[in-house]
Amino acid sequence: MDLPEISDLIVQFDPQTGQRLPVVQAEVVERFLSLGSKQAARVVAGIPSKNGLLLEDAVDAMLLRSHIEMQRLSEEFAHGSRVREVLLDLLAAFRVSGIPSPYRVVDLGCGTGFVLRWIAAHGGLGDDVELIGADFNTTLIDAANRFARLEQLKVRFTAANAFALPEAATILVSTGVLHHFAASSLAAFFAEHGRVGTLAFAHWDFQPSPLVPFGSWLFHVSRFREPLARHDGIRSALRAYTAQTLLQAARDSQAEFSLGVYNPLLGQLPIKRVFHAVMGVRPNLMPAFASASGQRFSRWHAWS
Ligand SMILES: C[S@@+](CC[C@H](N)C(=O)[O-])C[C@H]1O[C@@H](n2cnc3c(N)ncnc32)[C@H](O)[C@@H]1O
Repeated sequence: MDLPEISDLIVQFDPQTGQRLPVVQAEVVERFLSLGSKQAARVVAGIPSKNGLLLEDAVDAMLLRSHIEMQRLSEEFAHGSRVREVLLDLLAAFRVSGIPSPYRVVDLGCGTGFVLRWIAAHGGLGDDVELIGADFNTTLIDAANRFARLEQLKVRFTAANAFALPEAATILVSTGVLHHFAASSLAAFFAEHGRVGTLAFAHWDFQPSPLVPFGSWLFHVSRFREPLARHDGIRSALRAYTAQTLLQAARDSQAEFSLGVYNPLLGQLPIKRVFHAVMGVRPNLMPAFASASGQRFSRWHAWS
C-alpha cells in the first residue's frame, strides 16, 4: 500500500470487537505529509475535530457524500447490468445442477448499495434469490436501507462482516473493495470464501493499464466534487491489483474454485475495460456455468 486512501486512515475499527476506534487528526495529517501528499493532508486537516480527535459524525457525512458520488462510476460503466448478467448465468447453473434454494447473493463492502439496488430494480433473478448488502460502515448501510425503502426494492443491507452473516452467501460479489486489502492479506480474503462455503464469487475492481493515470484523473475531476472522493478515486485506480496478482492470491488461498478473470477486454478489441472481475466457481459447477453463459463464456479467461 504505497499511498493509502484518506478513507483508509480516517476510520479505524478494533479488528477483534468491530468497535470504532478514535482517530487522532494530527497523526493522519502528519502521515500524509510524510508521504508527500499535501492534498490528502489538507482534506484531513479540514475535518471537524474535538480534543484532537476526528468527529465521527463529520467523517461519516464525508464518507456518505463520497460514496454517493462513487455511484457515478457504476452508472457510467453500466456496472449494474454487468453484475446482473454474471449472476443470471451463475443462478441458471445452480438451478440446473440441483443446488437447493434460496440462493443468497451478498455484496461485500456494498457501501450505499447501488449495485444490488440496481439489480433489485431491474428484477428477473427469480423469487428464490435473496439480495443482501453487507458493509462494516453503519452510516453507509443506513443510507442504503433508506434508499431501498424509498425505491421500494426487495433487497436488504446489514452492517456486518460479509463473511460472518448468520446465513452464508451462495454468491459473493464486490465492487472496488479488493484494492483496499494489503497484498499480503489477499490470500486470506480468498480463503474465507472456501471457509464459509460460497459456491461462486466475482469481485470487480479497477483494471491497471497505461491509460489509468490520465483516464482516472479526468473522470474524477470532471464528475466528482467531494475532495475525499476525488483523491481516493484516483488513488484507487492507481493502486488496483493486476489480474495475475489477484489470481495468484486466490490460488494461494487453496480454496477449491475454478479461477478466471471475467470480461477484461472491450469486445474483441485488445483494449482493457475500466473494471475486470476475478471470479471463482466451484469446479463441479463450471460445465453448467459455461453452458448457461453460452456466447458470454468467451469473456472468461481461465487461470492457466
Ligand atoms: C470503497 S468501499 C466500497 C464501495 C462500494 N462497493 C461501491 O461500489 O460504492 C469499501 C467498503 O468495504 C467494506 N468492507 C471491507 N471488507 C468487508 C467485509 N469483510 N464485510 C463487509 N464490509 C467490508 C468497508 O467497510 C468499506 O466501506
